[in-house]
Amino acid sequence: MAAMNWRGVVLFPRQPETLAVVNIAVAEPLRRRGVATRMVGFAQERAAELGMRRLKVGTGSTSFEALALYQRCGMRMTRIDRDYFLRSYPGPTHEHGIRVRDMARLSCPIPVDGNRAEW
Ligand SMILES: CC(C)(COP(=O)(O)OP(=O)(O)OC[C@H]1O[C@@H](n2cnc3c(N)ncnc32)[C@H](O)[C@@H]1OP(=O)(O)O)[C@@H](O)C(=O)NCCC(=O)NCCS
Repeated sequence: MAAMNWRGVVLFPRQPETLAVVNIAVAEPLRRRGVATRMVGFAQERAAELGMRRLKVGTGSTSFEALALYQRCGMRMTRIDRDYFLRSYPGPTHEHGIRVRDMARLSCPIPVDGNRAEW
């Protein structure tokens, strides 16, 4: 990945059967070429290899690109963590001219042994 100047994806086991994407970013000149889609695909494959049942991610409610990406990758919203960013980050942050306050949490089931995954 580094050789291609991609950014990367960080994965963490969370609950016993859940793998979490905690950070994913693509260098600006390489965006809109399917790089992040491939990274999410890698995370889904890795989750299956590890026997995980679910992949989850959290992103700002104002991170429209990321929200589109994750839903294009088959993830669905599970809940909104209100004021997450006010609690977790010092100082106000804005995205698209909107104060970043709330965290949208999304997840998708991971197929087991090639069987269709259940929501
Ligand atoms: C979000 C991010 C990782 C997407 O990376 P990417 O490699 O450009 O994403 P992809 O090319 O795989 O895009 C997949 C789909 O996501 C959606 N998408 C991605 N960027 C978008 C944008 N700027 N506007 C609208 N939709 C977008 C589209 O549906 C896209 O499919 P399409 O290109 O066929 O229309 C990248 O914009 C980024 O690094 N942003 C800054 C960091 C960040 O917000 N990370 C998420 C934190 S959780």
